[in-house]
Amino acid sequence: MKTVYLETFGCQMNVHDSEKVLGTLMAEGYTPVDSPEDADLVLYNTCSIRDKAEQKVFQRLQNFRREGANGRRRFGVLGCVAQQEGERIFDRAPHVSLVCGSASYHKLGELLVQLEAGDRRVKGLDLDTEETFETPFARRDNPHRAYLTIIEGCDKSCAYCVVPFTRGPERSRTVESVLAEAGRLAQSGYTEIQLLGQNVNSYRDPAGACDFAGLLGRVAAIPGLRRVRFTTSHPRDFVPEIVDALEANPVLCNHVHLPVQSGSDRVLARMQRQYTRAEYLRRIERLKRSPRRISVTTDIIVGFPGETEEDFARTLGLLEEVEYDSLFSFQYSRRPNTSALALDGQVPEEEKARRLAILNEKQRAIQIRRNGEMIGSIQQAMIEGFNQRTGQWIGRTSQNRVLNFVQSGQGPPPAPGHYVDVRVTRAGPNSLAGEQAAPGAGSEAVDAD
Ligand code: SAH
Ligand code: SF4
Ligand code: F3S
Repeated sequence: MKTVYLETFGCQMNVHDSEKVLGTLMAEGYTPVDSPEDADLVLYNTCSIRDKAEQKVFQRLQNFRREGANGRRRFGVLGCVAQQEGERIFDRAPHVSLVCGSASYHKLGELLVQLEAGDRRVKGLDLDTEETFETPFARRDNPHRAYLTIIEGCDKSCAYCVVPFTRGPERSRTVESVLAEAGRLAQSGYTEIQLLGQNVNSYRDPAGACDFAGLLGRVAAIPGLRRVRFTTSHPRDFVPEIVDALEANPVLCNHVHLPVQSGSDRVLARMQRQYTRAEYLRRIERLKRSPRRISVTTDIIVGFPGETEEDFARTLGLLEEVEYDSLFSFQYSRRPNTSALALDGQVPEEEKARRLAILNEKQRAIQIRRNGEMIGSIQQAMIEGFNQRTGQWIGRTSQNRVLNFVQSGQGPPPAPGHYVDVRVTRAGPNSLAGEQAAPGAGSEAVDAD
């Protein structure tokens, strides 16, 4: 029996790539195991978005260094660090015998044959490809919510970002293959699908049959699906037609993740984000005008080279203006190959940490306020699990808020994957709490939230 251990770092694209890689390996006769010690093949699917993420894989590999190049166990590095570091990984960690970036996963079968034949330097590093990685074998972890990649790579060139170098140019899947996969998922019992891409808004069927807004409408029409989400959007390509699609299709969730990175035009220009604060705010204004009550979340980088105290104050002002429902915040990290390496005005690490703390504190207050506004409302939750410690069920709203609740005798008994109506009774900065309500108790529950 051949066994494989696969550990994943990084974003949802990586998590889903791992589901596809593992499914492919299982189709080739591998059995997944829970610990690297029990595995014949140890794979790390890596992330290089910030330096800390990149270091993790080398720490993991270090643990097995004494096994050497001729040990029984094989080691492979996949994903963004593999693509970025390439053959240098073989020199740095001689017990690694497979290095493969995501743009080469469609060749994984061939690479495994080479590995099993005894080749100790197997490479999948071509970046300039038209191929996408499609497989019928994806082994999805969650039985209710499925990831589905619609576009790979990125054609933007944000000054701080490694992704164009690690994932290559944009390639959209055909609309037929996306709809066929979504249809199969719905038929096999999935009720929620999350469409994935580094910039889903620039999705375009290769034959020109539809754009992203069109795709949303067609996925939402698939019988059996109750929730469709998508991530990530890029402000420049987030056209109003996408919000029109949301309004026309209740199955599309009330949530848009629209990373802004900075509230200062000067910084946005230096980041090469291709929009101004005013243009970004016009996108937000369209969202806020919607009767759908769409929640908006974002990503922020603090301490980008040249960011002054005044620039940072503009970002804080933007937080107040938009009132994000949640955000991910990062200290700028210098990355290989990126154009920001050449910029002057590096911000000291302590100063980045200080700005991050201020930003997070401000956002915490906004979230307490925003979540507090939900008290008294009835929300539909998709049940994700049960917390033994608190005795609460864990659910998620269409707006992507975590909603913990207790069973109340009203409505059907809760079970993972089911949808229930919940009356919100309490709110914290990061989640809501409530109790199960009678089905259809609130008008909001009817309009899919
Ligand atoms: N394609 C998405 C996400 C890219 S990575 C997008 O365009 O928004 C996710 C987030 O990591 C980014 O939005 C950015 O906020 C952050 N990030 C990317 N590179 C970074 C770097 N060098 N230092 C700090 N944060 C970074
Ligand atoms: Fe990176 Fe910018 Fe592409 Fe997002 S849009 S993946 S931040 S280059
Ligand atoms: Fe990391 Fe690569 Fe995703 S760098 S964030 S795993 S695209």
